[in-house]
Amino acid sequence: MEGESTEKRRPWYKSKIVLSVLGAAIFFLLVILVVLWAAKSRKTGDEPGSEEGDLDRPPRYHNLFETQKKLPQHDLSLPFPEGATGRYVKFTAQSGQRLLGWNNVFTELLLHNYLAYKSRRGYVFGDYFWAPEHYPWPEDKALEKPARTPISALISGPTAGGPWPPGDPAPRSIHEDHWPLVCPPEKVKKIWTTKVKEKYKMRDNGTGKYIFNVWKKILIDDPAQCIEVTQPTIEEDPWPEVFDLFLLGGPRILDFLDEFRESLVSQGLKASPVVERSIQRNTHLFQTPETVHHNPFSRVLAVHIRRGDYVGHCKNLAAWHAGFYGWNQLPWLPDRYAPPTPEPGNYTEEYLSHCLPEMDHIIKRIEDARDDWEKETFAGQKLESHYIHTIYILTNALPEWHDEFAKKLKHDHKWNVVTSHDIVFGDAQEKDVGMAIDMELARRAGIFLGNGWSSFTSNIVHQRLIDKKTALSNRFF
Ligand SMILES: *[C@@H]1O[C@H](CO)[C@@H](O)[C@H](O)[C@H]1NC(C)=O
Ligand SMILES: *[C@@H]1O[C@H](CO)[C@@H](O)[C@H](O)[C@H]1NC(C)=O
Repeated sequence: MEGESTEKRRPWYKSKIVLSVLGAAIFFLLVILVVLWAAKSRKTGDEPGSEEGDLDRPPRYHNLFETQKKLPQHDLSLPFPEGATGRYVKFTAQSGQRLLGWNNVFTELLLHNYLAYKSRRGYVFGDYFWAPEHYPWPEDKALEKPARTPISALISGPTAGGPWPPGDPAPRSIHEDHWPLVCPPEKVKKIWTTKVKEKYKMRDNGTGKYIFNVWKKILIDDPAQCIEVTQPTIEEDPWPEVFDLFLLGGPRILDFLDEFRESLVSQGLKASPVVERSIQRNTHLFQTPETVHHNPFSRVLAVHIRRGDYVGHCKNLAAWHAGFYGWNQLPWLPDRYAPPTPEPGNYTEEYLSHCLPEMDHIIKRIEDARDDWEKETFAGQKLESHYIHTIYILTNALPEWHDEFAKKLKHDHKWNVVTSHDIVFGDAQEKDVGMAIDMELARRAGIFLGNGWSSFTSNIVHQRLIDKKTALSNRFF
């Protein structure tokens, strides 16, 4: 009997009221989860497809690698000069056997891209591979290849696959993964840098313009559709690059810099979207009551203080009598320093005051640079207070040195002080490209004071000259 009645009666958990309450509760729970998830993605500023909020783990860049794969130029059916019939040049030299710092690689990429452009060939770009000592995370020994970052995370412009200006018929750059599709091995002609450098007497000889034009002619005249410019091992040739350190680190490059600055490669060079969103996240650090409605960077002096490795390296540079590097050599910039002719062991102190200046000397140089600039910019006007009031410190110095320096500037010299350590990264991608964020902040600053031997300083000066910043706003120790 009991059995009959229970069969007809619903168990309590199937009663209509309980079911609808449960249904509503589940529904609200889902709504709350969706709202929380949406709020979280908004907060990290991620583009769809990236969930790189964890700053302790290197970014995977799924979104950027996906976007890169789908670039419109990666299409075999495009008409000449792109697609399957296009002409291309790949510089295998660049991804190299030597893992160089980003700043050396960066200079090379831009020069290679411009050479490809002038040779009317599509440029082939790869990814940036990190030297472990510069990588922002511990090295993962399980990886077969070094850690890598897509170029489009570091910069934007034609060198990262971006378009040329409308109407320019030049082929766009393609990524290395697309190269075997347009240029299968049987179509590729290899040209060895060492042979060209010997044949045209470019070793320790020949100006930037001469070297560029020799390569341009070779790449234009060769009927091969696909050219790979390649280099022997470091054992066979320690300086195998097309544009090697002895060219970039000495005055032979100078006759090429005006043309290069005006090139579409330079003019199209901009911050990457990752860098751009990090700058926006951190702009408030530079904002003061005077700049709420203005560009706050115009009142910033950015100073690049190279210490760390330079504590030893400056002595080597002195022993080699090395002069300023790359763009830092331009004769019309205000601070020139040519190492005196060698007098064994005797010019080191003077040399070190430029290469590895002491704290008080640095502060004096900062304040002189500001005074010079304000005098020129506000000629004849009397300023109530300094126009340049914020300092941005880019440094690899030890924390104790850095803290003492920041404190002195703040308390004894009344600067508003921001340093690389204050920058807040929204996600792992931003942390990965910290050096590019620093570079962009220094590009935008009203005044920049850097180290003449440094390629990081040189790349910053390049970008400031693209933006037509005045000579007196680019200073060296
Ligand atoms: C050096 O390069 C120039 C071109 O700039 C060339 O005419 C000259 O023959 C070269 N000299 C030597 C010694 O290699
Ligand atoms: C080296 O420099 C010092 C002063 O800085 C000078 O007194 C000395 O004569 C110099 N020595 C030589 C060999 O030039």
